[in-house]
Amino acid sequence: MTVAGVMSGTSADGIDVALVQIRPKGNGLKLELIGHEAFPFTPVLRKVILSAMDAKSTSTADLARLNWRLGQAYVEALRATVKRHPVNLQLIGCHGQTIYHQGATAMYAGRTVACTWQIGEPALLAAELGVPIVSNFRPADMVAGGQGAPLVPLLDYVQFADNKRARVLQNIGGIGNLTLIPPASGINKLIAFDTGPGNMVIDALMQQLFQKSYDRSGKIASRGHVIESVLSATLKHPFFRAKPPKSAGREEFGAAFAERLLQLCQEFGGSNEDAITTATALTADSITRAFKEFVQPRLKSNIPVDYIVSGGGAKNKTLMAMLQQRLEPLGCNLLESSDAGIPVDAKEAMAFALLAYYTWHRRPANVPSATGAKRPAILGQITHA
Ligand SMILES: Nc1ncnc2c1ncn2[C@@H]1O[C@H](COP(=O)(O)OP(=O)(O)O)[C@@H](O)[C@H]1O
Ligand SMILES: [Mg+2]
Repeated sequence: MTVAGVMSGTSADGIDVALVQIRPKGNGLKLELIGHEAFPFTPVLRKVILSAMDAKSTSTADLARLNWRLGQAYVEALRATVKRHPVNLQLIGCHGQTIYHQGATAMYAGRTVACTWQIGEPALLAAELGVPIVSNFRPADMVAGGQGAPLVPLLDYVQFADNKRARVLQNIGGIGNLTLIPPASGINKLIAFDTGPGNMVIDALMQQLFQKSYDRSGKIASRGHVIESVLSATLKHPFFRAKPPKSAGREEFGAAFAERLLQLCQEFGGSNEDAITTATALTADSITRAFKEFVQPRLKSNIPVDYIVSGGGAKNKTLMAMLQQRLEPLGCNLLESSDAGIPVDAKEAMAFALLAYYTWHRRPANVPSATGAKRPAILGQITHA
């Protein structure tokens, strides 16, 4: 089957599309990436998405409009991708844009509620592309008792499981998350969780201090110094201590968190560059801490570990150098997913192509050990053309 996966993450930088050929092979599946393309959001669309996510002031009417406007953006991205890579597209898996995610239950209107909301009207995609769409993947896992995230571990397992080597798949999008696949283990032995901020805090500070949406190649971060006292103060956030499974978003590491980090840097007398370097070190340190506390204790000593990085953060050279410096002494071999055959921008989009394929075949695709679900669940809704 030829399946397109469409991903737009918490960075709200744009849309990634992957075209994937999926074939049965032995007991498993073989995935071949036919092509992948990235489409940045226009500044005005990015602005309304960000204001809807960090929502202090949005209206129901705006959310409804954004649902349809995002549907149009996904249609345009898919059209352009299929034009560049002509294929006979059969199915689309579209993650949508997360507007709100609360994986754990909390009191609301007299009952405990957990919730998640991804938008981007699938009826538009089905009508315009003429193929079925699978969307709204997360709720079925939450109903099964999970956090609705992470869902990428299925792809991680299919692509990267190894008999001899432990593999850690570290994605660095807006949020950082990892999947551990111990050597020669079944999918029920995976662990996966969010490690904390990925690029989100760096991006917020770049916007405020340098009027840029991100720190290209980590250039600004390479010019500043880490302010250790600020780093250790921000690492006290209870999220880093919490045991997996756990998930994070703008609710934890959005504008308010970035503002506090900046304030601490300024009180110390740090430069704007120092604030970016310190935010970059926070990402590297939180990833390292997650590995040390929650991953390493589960591995036999002397097992070789490939630490495979994907997502936009893999292009931040300063961040990658910080990770190398911290993780190599712990016995990790740091790689980019591109070195292991999957371009850093394509992995999450490929995952949603695979998840759609599972749903189409009525197969459960959540990984209960990763999401905390009590049972397997068939994910998402199908909108027919
Ligand atoms: N060339 C680059 N140099 C440094 N950082 C980059 C580069 N390209 C992308 N990024 C970072 O990656 C982010 C997007 O990563 P992505 O994997 O798409 O995350 P998400 O899934 O949250 O959308 C950008 O917001 C930016 O911070
Ligand atoms: Mg993105």
